[in-house]
Amino acid sequence: MAEPVIGIDLGTTNSVVATVQSGTPVVIANRSGYRLTPSVVAIAKNGKRLVGSLARRQAVTNAERTVVSVKRLMGRKWSSRSTQEALARLPYTVVPHDKERDDLLIRLGENAYSPPEISAMVLAELRLDAEAFLGQPVTKAVITVPAYFNDSQRNATKDAGRIAGLDVIRIINEPTSASLAYGFGKQIGEKQICVFDLGGGTFDFTVLHMYKGVFEVEATGGDSLLGGDDFDDRIVDWLAQPFLEKHRIDLRKDKMSLQRLRDAAEKAKCELSSTLQVEINLPFIATAQGAGPLHLQAALARPQVEVLTRDLVDRCLGVCERVMAEAKVKATELGDVLLVGGQTRMPLIQARVRQMFGREPSKAVNPDEAVALGAAIQGAMLLHQEQEMLLLDVTPHSLGIAIAGGFFQSIIPKNTTVPTSAHHVFTTVKDDQTSAKITVLQGESEIAAQNELLGEFMMTGLRKAKRGEVDIDVIFDISADGIVSVSALDVQTGLRQSITVTSSSGLTEDEIKTAAKANEEWMLGQKEDPEFQKQKVRAEELFKQFDELWPRLKQAAANGLGNEPVQRAEAALSVAKLQVQQKESAGLAASLDRLDRMLGALRGAVERGLTSPRGSKP
Ligand SMILES: Nc1ncnc2c1ncn2[C@@H]1O[C@H](COP(=O)(O)OP(=O)(O)OP(=O)(O)O)[C@@H](O)[C@H]1O
Ligand SMILES: [Mg+2]
Repeated sequence: MAEPVIGIDLGTTNSVVATVQSGTPVVIANRSGYRLTPSVVAIAKNGKRLVGSLARRQAVTNAERTVVSVKRLMGRKWSSRSTQEALARLPYTVVPHDKERDDLLIRLGENAYSPPEISAMVLAELRLDAEAFLGQPVTKAVITVPAYFNDSQRNATKDAGRIAGLDVIRIINEPTSASLAYGFGKQIGEKQICVFDLGGGTFDFTVLHMYKGVFEVEATGGDSLLGGDDFDDRIVDWLAQPFLEKHRIDLRKDKMSLQRLRDAAEKAKCELSSTLQVEINLPFIATAQGAGPLHLQAALARPQVEVLTRDLVDRCLGVCERVMAEAKVKATELGDVLLVGGQTRMPLIQARVRQMFGREPSKAVNPDEAVALGAAIQGAMLLHQEQEMLLLDVTPHSLGIAIAGGFFQSIIPKNTTVPTSAHHVFTTVKDDQTSAKITVLQGESEIAAQNELLGEFMMTGLRKAKRGEVDIDVIFDISADGIVSVSALDVQTGLRQSITVTSSSGLTEDEIKTAAKANEEWMLGQKEDPEFQKQKVRAEELFKQFDELWPRLKQAAANGLGNEPVQRAEAALSVAKLQVQQKESAGLAASLDRLDRMLGALRGAVERGLTSPRGSKP
């Protein structure tokens, strides 16, 4: 059997894992049977790690030890405005970490974790789901990121994959991935399409040109701080503000009530996509001094939400206009508009998209699953060369360097097809200069400080010579993953210069290795040992046989067998079920032997009862 490869849509709110089986891309349901796994991680009160719906379900009562929307913190610097804005809204505690790196950690119980470590917990869970589904170990993966993610965010995602024990063979952009799912297995002539992807935390808009199996991105743009979470926040404020005015209590300041507000807001928002009015009821949301418990009750109508969030939708459409101008295409010229991401279910968004593009958005892809399916297709293409499709993606930000006067000089403009590389020649400015620093940035501003700092690269050991006599050719590479690397060459001697990164927001190699080891141990603990697996199969078979016997046994009990044997069987069954739940391999074997004997005896009794004159046939 060919080595399996999985595609993972690591979302802000939900994650999805998929694979290609016998040439067909399929979503892998998690071990609880659901196709979407909430991207939520928690440490329960008993110290156990919870991931997915189990973590999400206990978020209200354990808000401080539950991490949601960690994607918003991936690859972010502590001091950045985006981090500080996100922090005001997150119910868990985030603290600064290394001063030099300007990174951050998330407190979870006694420990603190970097965002990639938290994301790795989600990835590890999905990996276990995939292994359970495929019945074999899985290490190869393609992980998707928003097209607008910069270099640090992509690196952080790759680090998360490594920590989860995955060999991330490619990072691909979510909208491009969705377009692969759209184009897969279809005979599509030449066509220009666009993908409008509004998820829980990010917005991406991409224009693609499809021809003869080639998927070429022409332009992409977005906002990595615009998503469904922001729509929820508007409703949270709408609920909390009058409450503050009336009771002088700001519900957003208490972590538990904030979590309850957010849950209620999101639920109301989703319901309002299919109904026109909802009731929001939050009993015992706070306690007023001297006045006892306070409740929050409100009725929210669809037009009201549309007023509250209109500017967010405008922001999305503004991005679309910009990207289409870059791709030199008019909205009405596009062949299809794919809607991806849960938030695009909002009727206002569909109406505005219809208006802008003058057509119905395509229903050809599932907005929740297309991204993961595309990643699985890309994985199969890379690993097994299964499909004859070629993906040509672009870099979403311009790459450049800081130059004298605090300005930014672009070296690779945005929307350049990746992989790509560019050169820039530096000359020494002093006699006998032995080192030089290059500050590499990503962004569109002419002012260096307004762009994202990727790293400061130190070239050392330069040849001693008069100023201007040493030319250093610096090569900037952007890989197909959208990740940047820098190398340098002495032009006169042809010798390679060594370059070290002196400032980066990523994890160090050692930190990744330590975290990966901890994860591996955790995963081993999660895996069922073969002996237990055997017992579990036997247990399930026995439970089924008891289920089948049950109605006739009840009848036999009423017809003279008595209740005692039935109760004994019930007790033995519940012990065995608990042992299955707690994976108690040794105890389970003994319980199953006992159940086996009971089953034989009870079957005998039932048969006798049925044939005896007093027994009644079923
Ligand atoms: N019926 C609905 N109406 C409106 N919004 C919805 C509906 N269903 C889901 N959403 C919203 O969609 C968002 C989640 O979408 P999705 O699962 O696509 O995001 P994600 O992939 O986790 O995030 P991202 O792609 O931004 O990282 C949430 O904000 C959720 O509230
Ligand atoms: Mg998404």
